[in-house]
Amino acid sequence: MKAIRIEGFGGPDVLRLTDLPVPSPGPGQIVVRVLAAGVNFIDVYHRTGLYPNALPLVPGMEGAGVVAATGQGVSLFREGDRVAWANVLGSYAALLVLAAERAVALPQGLTAETAAAAMLQGMTAHYLCTSTFPLARGHTCLVHAAAGGVGLLLVQMAKRRGARVIGTVGTEAKAALAREAGADDVILYQQEDFLEAVRRLTGGRGVEVVYDSVGKTTAEKSLDCLVPRGMAVFYGNASGPVAPIDPLVLSRKGSLFLTRPSLVHYIADRASLEARAADVLGDAAAGRLKVRIDRTSPLSGAAEAHRALEGRQTTGKVLLIP
Ligand SMILES: NC(=O)c1ccc[n+]([C@@H]2O[C@H](COP(=O)([O-])OP(=O)(O)OC[C@H]3O[C@@H](n4cnc5c(N)ncnc54)[C@H](OP(=O)(O)O)[C@@H]3O)[C@@H](O)[C@H]2O)c1
Repeated sequence: MKAIRIEGFGGPDVLRLTDLPVPSPGPGQIVVRVLAAGVNFIDVYHRTGLYPNALPLVPGMEGAGVVAATGQGVSLFREGDRVAWANVLGSYAALLVLAAERAVALPQGLTAETAAAAMLQGMTAHYLCTSTFPLARGHTCLVHAAAGGVGLLLVQMAKRRGARVIGTVGTEAKAALAREAGADDVILYQQEDFLEAVRRLTGGRGVEVVYDSVGKTTAEKSLDCLVPRGMAVFYGNASGPVAPIDPLVLSRKGSLFLTRPSLVHYIADRASLEARAADVLGDAAAGRLKVRIDRTSPLSGAAEAHRALEGRQTTGKVLLIP
């Protein structure tokens, strides 16, 4: 079967199309024919080694497809069922073997492409605004990279929870997309100092929460955007990892809360995976959540897809179609 394999950490060129043996399911596992695999920033961290894994590895943490075989003791799914998953390594492949309990059923009417596009970034946006800092009417949040994969979904979810949303984006075209997703105000943070803009937009008050996936280049000013006792949610490293922060800085800046969450801990058990996936995929199927697919390519386009994602060229989801 065709798959993308990494034999050494490095740039996009280490993503090589290769032939691997057809996997068979062990007890409790299913084999899925992958119809669409999502490209996420975490795949870049796996490729570069920022998040270390044993080599060689097949990257890709998300997708949707059809159950091709079931292992002993699997009662959740049958051959032919349509399923989706997130946080399962090995998704840039024609076939994937995974624990049945890490897959969820697709709702009727939802395409495999949309499901693959919604799982990882959608459940991330979901936990950020419902669990990490549960947004409600009266809150103002700052969403960095608001036209990105997570960003466009987080803006929509935050608005539906009644919050005021300020987004940051790199270009005018991205600003239009963020506004379309519901952002009340958009800051072009490469042209304007986003801290000054947030102060201006909030009458000097600040925001209750900042969702920062950009990391290195934004983190320090993100803290300064917060109201006293506000929460900094540093959930990504698109520009590089955040430098260490002295806890006393949080005290000086207003008894701030700082968290560095990861999706894995918010879908750790079957019940939370099912509940988040049902919310996200259900909303996508019903058209309440718009899932923007920026581009699709065959597995052989993996390197190009990574270049585009890292090069800030994408808005919404990038998919590989095996
Ligand atoms: N912790 C978690 O559970 C979790 C889960 C999923 C994703 N994430 C994180 O969420 C972030 C977004 O992931 P995504 O897959 O949806 O990607 P994305 O937001 O679609 O792409 C990253 C965006 O970050 C912005 N950016 C700012 N500075 C950048 C730089 N120096 N290099 C590259 N991009 C830069 C760009 O938007 P502008 O041009 O508008 O600035 C770019 O489009 C990533 O940091 C990822 O690690 C975290």
